[in-house]
Amino acid sequence: MKILGIETSCDETAAAVVEDGRRLLSSVVASSMDLHVKYGGVVPEIAARSHIEVILPVIQQALDDSSSNWGDIDGIAVTYGAGLGGSLLIGVMTARTLAIALGKPLYAINHVEAHVYANFLTETSLPGLRLPDAQPKFPLLAIIVSGGHSQLVLFHDHFDYALLGQTQDDAIGEAFDKVAKMLGLPYPGGPSVAKAAKKGDPLAFQLPKAKMDKYDFSFSGLKTAVLRLAQAQIGESYDFPSTKLPERLSEPQKANIAASFQRVAIETIVAKARLAYEEFAPASVVIAGGVAANQELRRQLTEAIPLPVEYPDTQLCTDNGAMVAALGCFKMLRGQPAVDPYTLDIDPSLSM
Ligand code: KG4
Ligand code: ZN
Repeated sequence: MKILGIETSCDETAAAVVEDGRRLLSSVVASSMDLHVKYGGVVPEIAARSHIEVILPVIQQALDDSSSNWGDIDGIAVTYGAGLGGSLLIGVMTARTLAIALGKPLYAINHVEAHVYANFLTETSLPGLRLPDAQPKFPLLAIIVSGGHSQLVLFHDHFDYALLGQTQDDAIGEAFDKVAKMLGLPYPGGPSVAKAAKKGDPLAFQLPKAKMDKYDFSFSGLKTAVLRLAQAQIGESYDFPSTKLPERLSEPQKANIAASFQRVAIETIVAKARLAYEEFAPASVVIAGGVAANQELRRQLTEAIPLPVEYPDTQLCTDNGAMVAALGCFKMLRGQPAVDPYTLDIDPSLSM
């Protein structure tokens, strides 16, 4: 059983073919990131236009790489939320058109849920991908950390899950992106803050941790504390424009701020994950989303959680079509209803 997955929720136009919910046959990702770098963030209109330009070639490439033709494809899965409205529309309209024209069942995919399913891919002949040996077992604790989401979710089974807690303001990836901006580091901020932090002392500065309800997070106070710290470092008052900070900070100061921020941001996630591990005794723990690529997160989690924690390959941590196709496979295998291709709408603020 082969499913074509289509993902266009942000700046990546992605398509992939997955077989039986475990075998990754192809994964094509075209990012418009280089067009957004000079603006320091994704510009929705530019992202949407890029999706239109590349979506059909990306899908064709995913079919070709998997040695499939349309006759081999049993269904189409597409991200319909959460994400940028204009971006989601391109993927959803393309998938609807294909499903109608080719008579394929269409599965509507929640982007955040799909991130977890990157961990169910265990086989591939594609080069350069490291996949886990076995699929995760239920109950499964999922730590979802991306540019748009920070959530702890307990899956009792496929499609049977409980949201334990989530961020009440910024997502952790968003906090990395904003701290990068304050320090003058390139977008996207996650990898550049992590790189700068390698040269810094994580204990150089004490930054505050928000006290939140049991499994909830908050990162906006930490972000403001980083801004105040940077201002204090150069001896400027609070009204000094943050855009002028990077040029006045030395490289060692930037590295120490990046390392101290990263330590506290990651500790926040890991402490709650540990708490959930103790309360629910999951059979497996997985990380999903762009921030799962963070090495400090992996290091701290390995120390805090007695189970081997699974991480998708870095290429499958950030947005991709493979996770969408994998979840689509399970929907079909488990008899979840397909949606009406004539009426499927986007849902930019869809939650778990
Ligand atoms: O999952 P993703 O590609 O998009 C969303 O669904 O949001 O995640 C992108 C986020 C960005 O905020 C990026 O800065 C962050 O993941 N990220 C990282 C790292 N690599 C990517 N954050 C921390 N450390 C990294 N190594
Ligand atoms: Zn994502």
